[in-house]
This record gives sequence, C-alpha cells and structure tokens, in this order.
Amino acid sequence: VLLAEVLTALLPRRGGLFFDGTCGGGGHAAAILEATSPDGFLWACDRDPAALEAAGARLARWKGRMDLRHGNFADAAGWVPRGRLNGALVDLGVSSPQLDDSARGFGFQHEGASLDMRMNPTVGATAADLVNTLPEEDLAELFRDNDEPAAKRIARAIVRERTSRPFRTTGALAGLAAAVAGRPGMRRHPATLVFQALRIRVNDEDGSLRRGLPALWSLLAPGGRLAIISFHSGEDRVVKEFMRVECRDFDAPEGAADQPHMRTPRAPRGRLVTRKPVEAGEAECSRNPRARCAKLRVMERL
Ligand SMILES: C[S@@+](CC[C@H](N)C(=O)[O-])C[C@H]1O[C@@H](n2cnc3c(N)ncnc32)[C@H](O)[C@@H]1O
Repeated sequence: VLLAEVLTALLPRRGGLFFDGTCGGGGHAAAILEATSPDGFLWACDRDPAALEAAGARLARWKGRMDLRHGNFADAAGWVPRGRLNGALVDLGVSSPQLDDSARGFGFQHEGASLDMRMNPTVGATAADLVNTLPEEDLAELFRDNDEPAAKRIARAIVRERTSRPFRTTGALAGLAAAVAGRPGMRRHPATLVFQALRIRVNDEDGSLRRGLPALWSLLAPGGRLAIISFHSGEDRVVKEFMRVECRDFDAPEGAADQPHMRTPRAPRGRLVTRKPVEAGEAECSRNPRARCAKLRVMERL
C-alpha cells in the first residue's frame, strides 16, 4: 500500500542504504532496490518465514545488494548498521497472503481453519491457546481495549462454551461472535474486532512497535527518514507520540503530566515530514479495500 507515497517520502536514490522491517511479498523492497540501483543496499526482514520466502524469490535479481533475514524488526539494531541509513520503512499488520491462506487462521471467511494467527508460526501461543485459557476478565479487557462494544458478553459466552467445547477453528469463534453480537444491517462481520484484538495480542504487535520505533530510529544517518504505515488507531497513536517526542526541543520526566517548569531543554532530534498522516487515494482504496485504513507518517533525523 501507499507505494508512490512511500517513495516520495523516502526519496531512494542511487547508492542509498535502506531498511524494510516488514518486507512481506517484497513490493516496497523491490521499488527501493530499483530506485537505489546499481549500488544501493537494502537490509530487510519479516517475522513470517513464508513471506520471507516469497520476498526472496521476488527480489532474487538484486541478490548481491540485500541482506534478507527472518526476524522481528524490533531487533534490527542487532544486525543492521546503526547511524548510517538513508531510510527505514515499516508497513505494519498482516499481508494479503497471510489473510488469504486459510491454514494461518487470520480470517473468519474460512470455516474450518485452525485458530492460529501467529505471523511466526515457529514460536508462541496461538489465538486458540488464548481463547481457551485466558480468564474471562482478561478476554473482556482485550476485546474492550480494541473498541469491541460487546466485549463483556462475548468473553462470557466464550468461557461458557469452552468448558464443554474448546475453540479450535476460526469458524467456531466467528460463529459465537455473530450469535452474541450480530445485528441486522451491521457493516462489518461481528467478529472483526475480536479477531483483530487476538491477532494483535498473539503477535505482541504493540510491544514490537514500541521497541521497534527507537531501534529503527537509531539506524538512520542525519537526514535519514523513518516511514511507518499503520492500520488502526492504536498503532497510529504510538507512532504519532514517538514522533512528537523526538521532534520537540525538551525532555520531560516520564509518566508525569508535562509541566513547563519540569522541562529540560535539548535540541530536537527529528523533524516531521508529514504534519498529518498520508492516506491512500480513492483509486488505491477501490483496488485494495485494506488501503482504506492505512496511515503513513514520516520523520527525518536531524
Ligand atoms: C502489510 S505486510 C507488508 C507488505 C510489504 N510491504 C510488501 O510490499 O509486500 C506486513 C508484513 O509484516 C510482517 N510483520 C508484522 N509485524 C512484524 C514484525 N514485528 N517484524 C517483522 N515482520 C513483521 C508480517 O509478517 C507481514 O508479512
């Protein structure tokens, strides 16, 4: 998504050094490699081994100009050079191949798919593990935090149901959400926010983003640009806040309310390239409905 907008923001040029933390199918990565030909370099990763394989195949012709690894972008500072890059990109969330592959359990369109949702299927608890073991209050909180209006009722129904029949498939959970919270004329499937909440928790997406932003920022040379594409308000809020703090000209005690007399002056570390988030145009949204939620924010390292 937002490919043209990302290129306008990152300005990849011949010889440029870039990082793509969510290379997925390699769409953005290919455009960056092309624009930095013949001697630029791209470090890139994805936590999904299947995505990495797809990206490897798509980017094969630039083989000598990239370092492609399986991993979380939050760990990038451990293997990507620091303080030298011209740009870093993260395009958050799930990819279309992940949503379309019924075996991954991200979507509720596939009836009998296993309720998994791990982007990296080699580690960690699945969505089914959470649904079958979390206490009712924790489930309700998880759904409520993701703006699900029927959070409490859905959590209660899950706990009642799982004692006799543990959840194994996406269809079982989607069916329960529809039975508990479905109303005639609803615009989206009644399980949408429940599935999204589980996916965010299963993959610790919030944690990766909070750890990842300072890590990616540390890779950039002065003048280098950080571009983040987010897909829901919770993510966008974290990105916006990180950028706000880097661009201001003082430090403030963490956690406390910001009071002028508590501020320690310092030079700003960044400059906002986008005052408001950049969104996809109508043409892209009608081609790809997922683009409708995408927000791009860009900041330049000073
Ligand atoms: C929207 S897709 C990216 C698409 C890609 N920009 C392209 O042009 O094809 C998001 C990808 O990010 C990956 N991902 C999400 N969070 C990640 C993280 N913390 N570290 C590494 N990869 C992550 C997912 O596995 C998925 O493949």
